[in-house]
Amino acid sequence: MIITKDYKMGDAVLHDPKMLIVLNRFDIKLGFGDKTIEQICNEHNINIEFFIEISNAFHDSTYFTENKLKQFPLELIVSFLINSHNIYINKIIPQIEKLIDSLEYDDNNDVKNIEFLKKFFLEYKQELVNHVKHEEATVYPYVVELEKSINSNTISKELLSIMTSYSASDYKDGHDNVEEKLFDLKNIIIKYLKPPKNYDTCNVILNKLFRLEEDLKNHSEIEERVLIPAAIKMETEIQQLNELNKIKIV
Ligand SMILES: [Fe+2]
Ligand SMILES: [Fe+2]
Repeated sequence: MIITKDYKMGDAVLHDPKMLIVLNRFDIKLGFGDKTIEQICNEHNINIEFFIEISNAFHDSTYFTENKLKQFPLELIVSFLINSHNIYINKIIPQIEKLIDSLEYDDNNDVKNIEFLKKFFLEYKQELVNHVKHEEATVYPYVVELEKSINSNTISKELLSIMTSYSASDYKDGHDNVEEKLFDLKNIIIKYLKPPKNYDTCNVILNKLFRLEEDLKNHSEIEERVLIPAAIKMETEIQQLNELNKIKIV
């Protein structure tokens, strides 16, 4: 199924619970009756085409079409990515952390197991926080500035100077795989963690980790296949315009 703007939002969620993640990302609350996706997007001032593209990318992992996503303003994509970061760091990670903290054992030796898991999770959390901070402080503002520069056909001296020492391709090369460590985390729980007293919690944690992993994979794809190629293209364009004195330095 391809999600379209005429689809009823309620049906889309009933058809695929992954739509709940998308709704969350766009800050759309449930309770939309029979309204279509188009109506809901209009009510929330959301770019309908962008919403449809993101919904389809979440709905079907083979759907991802970087060419369509590349047509949207990068500022829009960046604000979506920042929104996702906020949800990872402020919502999903604390939820998982709380669940790990709630695992219970009778035997003190088993508690050590949990300490190892907690330590591993905290290390992962720190890695993710650092990753996100770097993107929000350096990469995203740089990409947005490049776009502004292209749109206005002007470039600030600051941006020109940054471009002499930094390129979006540097970021691409160092873009570490934040979902990789999640695999190890799942592995620890699946293979080595002794079943706790509240065993069901383990399944809840695992389900959340699987979902986060998939979500982060989608997120990284947007960064690597949409954002970075667009930034590299703009860098080349700006350099060429500058060599020909066809861009105003301000
Ligand atoms: Fe990111
Ligand atoms: Fe990233």
